[in-house]
Amino acid sequence: MRELRITPWRIESLDPDDRSFRESIFSQGNGYMGTRGYRPDQRGAHPAWRSTFLAGFYEYVKPGITDLVNHPDFSGIQFRLNGTDSESHTVSDFLQTLDLRCGLVTWAYNLTDRAGNQTRVKQEKFLSMADRHLAAIRVSLTPVNWSGTLELSGGIDARVENLPVSDDQLTENVEFVKMWSDVRTEPRPAGGQLTAQTRISHRQIAQSYLFSGKGSLKTEAADEWVTTTINARLSQGMTWVGEKRIAVASFRDGDAGEIVKEKSEELKDTTFDELLTESALAWEKIWKQADVQLIGNDEWQGAIRYNIFQLIQAMPYGDTHASIGARGLTHGRYKGCYFWDTEIFMLPFFAYTQPNAAKSLLQYRCHTLPDAVESAKRFSAKGARFSWMASDTGFEQCGTWDTGCCEIHITADIAHAVRQYVELTGDEAFLRDCGTELLLQTARYWVDRFNYVSAEDQYHLLFVKGPDEYCGVTCDDFYTVSMARDHLEQAAAAIKWMEKTYPEDWTVLAEKTGFQPEETEKWMDIAAKVVLRRRGELWKQDATFDLLEPLDIQAHKDDDAPLYHKIGFDRLQRYQVLKQPAVLMYMALCPEKFSKVEVEAAWNYYEPKTLHDSTLSFGIHALVAARLGYEEKAVHYLEKSLFLDLKNVMKNTAGEGIHTASLGATWQAMVLGFGGLSICNGVLNVENRLPPGIEEMRYRVFHKGIPHRITIRKNQKPEIFVEI
Ligand code: BGC
Repeated sequence: MRELRITPWRIESLDPDDRSFRESIFSQGNGYMGTRGYRPDQRGAHPAWRSTFLAGFYEYVKPGITDLVNHPDFSGIQFRLNGTDSESHTVSDFLQTLDLRCGLVTWAYNLTDRAGNQTRVKQEKFLSMADRHLAAIRVSLTPVNWSGTLELSGGIDARVENLPVSDDQLTENVEFVKMWSDVRTEPRPAGGQLTAQTRISHRQIAQSYLFSGKGSLKTEAADEWVTTTINARLSQGMTWVGEKRIAVASFRDGDAGEIVKEKSEELKDTTFDELLTESALAWEKIWKQADVQLIGNDEWQGAIRYNIFQLIQAMPYGDTHASIGARGLTHGRYKGCYFWDTEIFMLPFFAYTQPNAAKSLLQYRCHTLPDAVESAKRFSAKGARFSWMASDTGFEQCGTWDTGCCEIHITADIAHAVRQYVELTGDEAFLRDCGTELLLQTARYWVDRFNYVSAEDQYHLLFVKGPDEYCGVTCDDFYTVSMARDHLEQAAAAIKWMEKTYPEDWTVLAEKTGFQPEETEKWMDIAAKVVLRRRGELWKQDATFDLLEPLDIQAHKDDDAPLYHKIGFDRLQRYQVLKQPAVLMYMALCPEKFSKVEVEAAWNYYEPKTLHDSTLSFGIHALVAARLGYEEKAVHYLEKSLFLDLKNVMKNTAGEGIHTASLGATWQAMVLGFGGLSICNGVLNVENRLPPGIEEMRYRVFHKGIPHRITIRKNQKPEIFVEI
């Protein structure tokens, strides 16, 4: 595999062969929809990975279990040059480029057929950021040493399938599932339309497309596809250009068929270039808010932009009923589900740079609060319990018992995100309108989940799984207990605040939720009497970590691939190793609660025992190391996180797609770590922690609705410019 070329605004691949990897890296999205980065004229490397996903669009594959639906393929284009299929030609001088400024992907290469006829090919594709229902593809063909015929065809193909990926990371699924039924196709003179519905819930979608290009056009349709073919004559040295402009809608937007019909009409009067210009303008606006500039290392610069770019592509802007899955819209891994990855890893990026997007992510949780209430009942608990894996419903989607039942910190993680969002933005209306209700209902869950041991007058948290998923099912996990304690205190404070600030709204909420004043007393009692263990300055991960057997990590792990491929989970959970940070994770989230000595003690003890078998691990270690001033370690971990997908660090980018939590952790390591940003007692503070080789870093963040431009230069006091 040839390494990608990473420059400040471009990611380039010169390798035509490494298809699955490139399909992940060059995935495109606009938050509404996403497609993997396969070349339009090639079949995907894997049938289920030739995927087109719509944010928030799921369908049941088993009772109660959903999968992110693979939509009909609108990207495909085939062409025959002088009677031979382009797929049979030899590819040379290949260059695939992603322009991070505007999301345009270009494939440029030469094709040579058996007779030596050469053709210069360029294919370009983008999904519009300006109108998220639209996408466009352009094909430019230049015969270098021949003249002859072109037959180019493309349309919409509903013969796509899902391959729901098992949650157990060691099992490969081989059962393809057909999602679409009642497919209807409508050929039109220069394009066509396709509508379909999902088999079980009858969820409707529609797509339409329009072709333009010199030649004669003919559209055909069959049961599951509609295709337009252009026949043209190509002349040596002359470039032929064809365009395909696409509109997509689903039942979530209204009458999908009508929407794409209207969009198709609009598309008649526009061109690829015009659509691209509008989309690029929308990207420009987002970049103005979200860019991180680094002077001194072009590879780092391109890579941090790539991380940000993928976060933006995954964000369902304006859709408060969808969130961001662990692989965004780039792969069906984890059935496209939402985890704590969103609130803890990605949300800080949005809260600082695009507060409305952060709010929208939290609103998704508010919308699924009734499901969380119902889920708590199913787990025989009161209040509301958020699911470890959620989709368009808030019901548990995790198929493995120990994780799905016991990794309960997600509920407190969401509360933490609410606090962070409100503190950063000052958006008290959110707290009044839905945040307090969420905190109240979820706080009740902890009352049931902690066990009171009267002999000790303490509350234990039994049988939980912390962020270090190799801990088995353990007791008094430091991370979960600390987060739950904070959650209880936060909920009690929110209620006090609401009672005082919005007494009328509070009366309505108290009545709706059947709140009793003694509830908060109980919350505070639990918060005061939880069990957190320490030895000197060292906070212990849980009740059992000391009992585990030490492991010589170097003897077993020689690369960054997860150890569970070599050592079975049952054995792994009895070694004194961590999959990813746990105590350090909490310290990363709440640095103000610990002395430097405590963080150092945790680092010295846990970091050497951490396997980094989750992609969530590197960025958080980089953040903690940067704050501690451990520059070398911080750079080491940052590079792992920064290039996690770009350099295929975990060797699973090809087969799993882009790791969205790592993107968010990278941003946090860069801006909150090296960029020195923190909010202390409501005041924005910046420290200079620039790493070697970086002369200058610039970023822009919002605090309480006001944009702040930060510039940090080597050995100088950081500049904070408030844009009023
Ligand atoms: C990690 C979890 C994470 C999940 C989805 C797992 O491997 O251990 O922390 O939420 O992947 O990214």
